[in-house]
Amino acid sequence: MKRILSAILGAAMLLCFASCGEGEPTETESGTSSSASEVSSESGVLRMATNAYFQPYEYYEGEDIVGIDVEIAEAIAKKLGMELVVEDMEFDSIITAVNEGSADFGMAGMTVTPERVEDVDFSVSYANGVQSIIVPENSPITCADDLFAEGATYKVGVQLGTTGDIYATEDLGSDRVVQYSNGNNAVLALVGGSVDCVIIDNEPAKALVEANEGLKILETAYADEDYAICVKKGNSELLDKINAAIDELVADGTIDNILNKYIK
Ligand code: ARG
Repeated sequence: MKRILSAILGAAMLLCFASCGEGEPTETESGTSSSASEVSSESGVLRMATNAYFQPYEYYEGEDIVGIDVEIAEAIAKKLGMELVVEDMEFDSIITAVNEGSADFGMAGMTVTPERVEDVDFSVSYANGVQSIIVPENSPITCADDLFAEGATYKVGVQLGTTGDIYATEDLGSDRVVQYSNGNNAVLALVGGSVDCVIIDNEPAKALVEANEGLKILETAYADEDYAICVKKGNSELLDKINAAIDELVADGTIDNILNKYIK
């Protein structure tokens, strides 16, 4: 049972979503903070909505939010001559934040999906992801198909509003899916025995397995995906600039260097 989203979504340009939420906005470079309402893209500030519990794409190092997405966003902002401000919020608030204008763009290892394309506009893709399955080392679940076997009752932990959540709910029904506010909490529930596996993107899965003893990632993946930046639907002015910046950062090797720095 492997979904191949990237094939369907190979189109160069798509859209996405954003949100508003809790968490103090963090300015990554100077260490100062400003609230979303104080700044706007017109003031030379580019506000990025993210959910910073998704290592290596975005995560806390002390008070700072760092990671692949933050570094790529910094490089884009630099090309645009703007200052990046990173705002941490719930993942499922990002699209709302972008559409309400409290953030200029969303970047959160966000997968381009047909449903999200209805709500936001997506940039060209800058990275790929794979939905992976984390299980305890001694789990009877050995492959994705075990989840679908007749009579199977395995419970799946996911991060609320992510593609892992969406696919698992579609495929297994909401009774078998438990939603957590972030991947760390889903994995804590797995360690504690309240779910039988966690479905989450492959790189965060690796970081979570490294940080928690007794877990492993199954060989069979659940879905292949493309990550992209989302802007408010119709904001082609910003989207064109972001796409041009990404194209340049791909061409000169910057994005590859950033990916290779975090993904060994
Ligand atoms: N790729 C998945 C999705 O788009 C998960 C992204 C979660 N990202 C995060 N920063 N928490 O639904």
